Amino acid sequence: MATYLVTGGAGFIGSHVVDELRSRGAQVRVVDSLVTGHRENLAHAPEIELVVGDLGDAEVAERVTRDVDYVIHLAAIPSVPRSVDEPVATNHANVTGTLGLFVAAQRQGVKRVVFASSSSIYGNSAALPKREDMPADPPSPYALQKLMGEQYARLFLQLHGLETVAVRYFNVFGPRQDPSSPYSGVISLFARCLAEQRAPIIYGDGEQTRDFTYVQNVVDGTLRAATAPDVAGRVINVSCGDRVSLNALYELMREQAGGGPDPEFAPARVGDVRDSQADISLARELLGYQPFVPLAEGIARTMAWYRDHAVQPAG
Ligand code: UD1
Repeated sequence: MATYLVTGGAGFIGSHVVDELRSRGAQVRVVDSLVTGHRENLAHAPEIELVVGDLGDAEVAERVTRDVDYVIHLAAIPSVPRSVDEPVATNHANVTGTLGLFVAAQRQGVKRVVFASSSSIYGNSAALPKREDMPADPPSPYALQKLMGEQYARLFLQLHGLETVAVRYFNVFGPRQDPSSPYSGVISLFARCLAEQRAPIIYGDGEQTRDFTYVQNVVDGTLRAATAPDVAGRVINVSCGDRVSLNALYELMREQAGGGPDPEFAPARVGDVRDSQADISLARELLGYQPFVPLAEGIARTMAWYRDHAVQPAG
């Protein structure tokens, strides 16, 4: 059975990758700095080896890649606004950590690294849906950092023969997405507001659109990228291929919750893109990928999770 290293495996998407790998009987190791990840995300999987450390530290990177077949590289500080506020700290996590991982993976003879990239790279060009061959135009430090990760991935293939594949995620959501920071993904914030009957904030006019994708779809596409033939050096969108406005999203969630407060509106966020939607034909063709959890079903599962995990008032 193959051995997988999941970087950022104590995070939201990472912990779901770990769950899927466990159910397939793979050997799994996790490295996580716990800057945005949480031990509790792996509490149900006590047999998983968790190394707490920073991939920018060569000793950590060497240690965790030893005897590993495949790396799923999710470790990052995944926030557009946080990268605007903290460009140096996010650059360290997202670029230096990624470079450290590639160096170690190449030295340890890892078979393939799947790098989690981001739709934010496409920037604000009007053309929709986004195809992988469209020019990158990063509008935030986060997008630029992810683009550098993709380019380092390709460079390590060219220079050292390290097999790398980049999967570009669009807005991923699901259980365990951390709603506790203003930088959190919007669905986690809306779900928590509805669970607590508080009004959510919509930045801008709410007519901006996103290709929201339930986490299990993304896990499936990512694991396909680890083993599919003839994909080394490729960049592949992994998403639903659809888009919905923030206003429509909140209405759907409110309806599923059986009602809820009206949203409050605030000025649009700096670095925000207007519209985002993926063309997923390449993932279909190269990975045999097909999203299998539709938006409404994913929202229902997610809201049920936030209801079950609502913070109980003291007393
Ligand atoms: C972006 C990237 C995505 C990346 C993610 C990491 C794009 C298209 N996508 O997502 O690939 O992985 O960052 O964070 O660039 N919003 C509200 N109210 C809130 C919170 C957010 O209205 O309380 C709005 C935002 O202004 C934005 C939308 O919801 O327009 C989605 O925001 P968010 O969930 O933070 O993700 P993106 O920034 O789109």
